[in-house]
Amino acid sequence: MISQESIQQILSRIDIVEIVGSFIKLKKRGANYLGLCPFHNEKSPSFTVSPSKEIYKCFGCGRSGNSIGFLMEAEKYSYVEALRWLAAKYNVEIEESETSPEYKQQQQVADSLYIINNFAQKYFTEALLNSEEGQDIALSYLKERGFREDIIKKFQLGYNGEGRDGFTKAALAAQYSLEYLQKTGLVNVREGNAYDNYRGRIIFPIHNQSGKVLGFGARIIKKNDKAPKYINSPENEIYVKSKILYGSYFARQAIDKADECLLVEGYTDVVSLHQAGVENVVASGGTSLTPDQLRLIKKYTSNLTIIYDGDSAGIKAALRGLDLALEESLNVKLVLIPDGEDPDSYVNKVGAAEFIKFVNENKKDFILFQLGIALNDAGSDSTKKSIVVNQIAETISKINKTEDFTKQQDYIKQCSEILKIEESGLHALVNKFIREKIGKEETRLNREQRFEDESITNVQSSDVENDVTALFNKDEIHEQAMIRSLLEFGLKNWAPPGEHSVEETKVAEYIFKEIEENQLEELIDNKELVRILQTYKAWFNAGIEPTAKNFLYNEDQQMSALVVSIMDFNHEISPKWKEHFEGHIATREDLFAEEVFSTLNYLKLRKIKRLMDENQRDLEKSTVAEDQMILVQTHQHLKQMEIELTKHLGTVIFR
Ligand code: GTP
Ligand code: MN
Repeated sequence: MISQESIQQILSRIDIVEIVGSFIKLKKRGANYLGLCPFHNEKSPSFTVSPSKEIYKCFGCGRSGNSIGFLMEAEKYSYVEALRWLAAKYNVEIEESETSPEYKQQQQVADSLYIINNFAQKYFTEALLNSEEGQDIALSYLKERGFREDIIKKFQLGYNGEGRDGFTKAALAAQYSLEYLQKTGLVNVREGNAYDNYRGRIIFPIHNQSGKVLGFGARIIKKNDKAPKYINSPENEIYVKSKILYGSYFARQAIDKADECLLVEGYTDVVSLHQAGVENVVASGGTSLTPDQLRLIKKYTSNLTIIYDGDSAGIKAALRGLDLALEESLNVKLVLIPDGEDPDSYVNKVGAAEFIKFVNENKKDFILFQLGIALNDAGSDSTKKSIVVNQIAETISKINKTEDFTKQQDYIKQCSEILKIEESGLHALVNKFIREKIGKEETRLNREQRFEDESITNVQSSDVENDVTALFNKDEIHEQAMIRSLLEFGLKNWAPPGEHSVEETKVAEYIFKEIEENQLEELIDNKELVRILQTYKAWFNAGIEPTAKNFLYNEDQQMSALVVSIMDFNHEISPKWKEHFEGHIATREDLFAEEVFSTLNYLKLRKIKRLMDENQRDLEKSTVAEDQMILVQTHQHLKQMEIELTKHLGTVIFR
């Protein structure tokens, strides 16, 4: 756990424009900043950052949040990871408080493994470049394969000799613990004897995003049918295969620049392509891509091009799980390298320019490619064919983002042509899968729901990503407006509209009083808003400033997201305009009393409407003349109250 003091220190230095600005280009527009949304594809900017409110909002896709939310979304960080990132950026020394012993233990192990890997990498590189055996056997082998020395050094390639325990001895002499050496997979123990795991192998260090060595891939040099060609580090505290893409540390900037990520099978493919100047390339190690790997790619680009050798068994593995890529809105293309070559050998054979040309001219659409393979496998078997149709419909149904709608239509058209079936039929099938998926999604949401009340499903998902506001109905807009005026004006002195304040009552106190006296709280349908109200009250009474900012940086991301979504964006007036009119524009600030008054009136009005409805129902049921009389009177009374209240409305416009 990061201590509260550290969190406060970090929060006090946050500059949302600077933080967001380190990911996307922002231009000043009035009081706000504007840029292209990093979360969806757009050509004209609708991504707005408000420095004064310390929030961002995209008017295109609806995503909104604070600095921490932004980092969580853009970098897929957890709340704590985002705080650490900010701490590093603003040079805040993090104090850890009440760290769980397990977590501390795990961090310590991780640190030790990094240190050992760093030692090992240096040892192996030294052995490759400066030992006689390394030069004679390994360096000469690499050079024969065409690797230049600068690229060998850049990727920190190494060699471990054929001897039994050269590395093990050196590591133990340097005081590294045998237990941790085994954890890294660098050392094995058999019958009490420790020995090197990677003998007579070229070593490929695998780096994390910041260049630290997570583990190694080790390739055998001498042909040996008994030993595996590659040995990789075992899973441990830092080497988590499903989250690793080889080369991502070296590729990151190039991927950004090219807005495309090339995916190859092997280590040597990555290194060779780099050497040829194609740097936006990573490798998955021949297995199918995991959700974590896809997300890693998606952080940098939406365009993934898979380049495999044509007869690799890995293709099918690579294609497996790619439906997930569609859900992440990744555009996936496939290029097959011909004639038994792999990207490494092919780029060495034809050169960089020809390689790039080939890739660009041979990009196949992944969905159509998959369909081709499946159809081929099915042959003339009609049962198998109908399975193919079902599968492709399901795949297409996963393209379900609004921005990709035309893409989905295109696929339906093309696939139905290839399959020789009616377009409308495939269309219906795709829709069936979409409906099924929505059904499942709803069950999931309901299961996750923290409250019994079903009216809050709207804001139930803790994803900041959900376009919360779009789902609000009209009543909720009024509820929101009330909470918004509480958040924004709660600490001001209260005076009824047009009057000067006499007593020392805060707006918040006035609102609480009104809510209590008129029993308005139960009228607020959105229970999340009630939670904000209650938290506000608790903080207020405890002497904690219930400012919007304190809500924004609350660890409760659900509450924070809701506060962001109800914060006012459009009513901010640029300082220039203010100057121009010399303060003659009445802002919400100026009219806050009226706003507070009106928002409460709306709730009261709602209460009256509900009472009137109830009354009306009773009236319809009633057969006794006396009762009817009373009910009619009640109706008139309520109607009068409604008229009174409505008179006071209308001055404030709610969006
Ligand atoms: P070279 O043969 O040196 O060109 O290496 P390569 O990277 O082209 O190897 P290959 O095409 O045979 O395999 C592609 C990738 O699959 C490798 O980079 C490894 O990540 C992985 N791989 C291949 N063989 C093995 C193996 O025996 N064990 C493990 N764990 N991975 C392997
Ligand atoms: Mn190869």
